[in-house]
Amino acid sequence: MNTDADAPGARYRKLAPMKLDGERELVLRVMPLPADLNANGDIFGGWIMAQVDLAGAVLPSRIAKGRIATVAVNQFVFKQAVSMGDLLSFYAKVVRVGRTSVTVHVEVYAERDPADPHIVRVTEASLTYVAIDKDGQPRPLPREPA
Ligand SMILES: CC(C)(COP(=O)(O)OP(=O)(O)OC[C@H]1O[C@@H](n2cnc3c(N)ncnc32)[C@H](O)[C@@H]1OP(=O)(O)O)[C@@H](O)C(=O)NCCC(=O)NCCS
Repeated sequence: MNTDADAPGARYRKLAPMKLDGERELVLRVMPLPADLNANGDIFGGWIMAQVDLAGAVLPSRIAKGRIATVAVNQFVFKQAVSMGDLLSFYAKVVRVGRTSVTVHVEVYAERDPADPHIVRVTEASLTYVAIDKDGQPRPLPREPA
């Protein structure tokens, strides 16, 4: 009998699923380029921060249904270096919805070494985004119908 584990590509799906436990969902997947290297030959932390900012904005944008701006990076931890060839998967979870702001937790996992594929958590961050109006001022988040 065929099981999920036997299905073509099953190992890949296990390595980088669309969702993780605890309502963490995949919002971005990207592989760094040689231009993103720092002087040590690892990936530049500023590049990772930019990707985290983009990834973190996905769920707040849906909630705000319009323009948002990053107001704060509350926490940012580089747990392990990112290397060329790593495939990065960004998982996000909404942790707070306020009057005008949404705070998300973002985790970044690297899938590395195609000969012996494994996953490493490389970065973790918390960011807050604010819904803004056409003048760039905070606006209340739309209320979901009851
Ligand atoms: C985002 C911006 C419009 C907010 O304006 P503001 O006058 O500071 O807003 P307020 O003080 O009314 O706060 C708005 C919300 O942000 C939250 N907030 C403000 N500063 C915060 C901080 N340091 N950390 C976490 N949340 C914060 C407030 O708690 C509030 O949330 P709530 O309404 O859900 O309770 C303004 O700060 C701005 O334009 N910043 C620049 C944004 C930008 O360019 N981002 C890209 C970075 S390069």
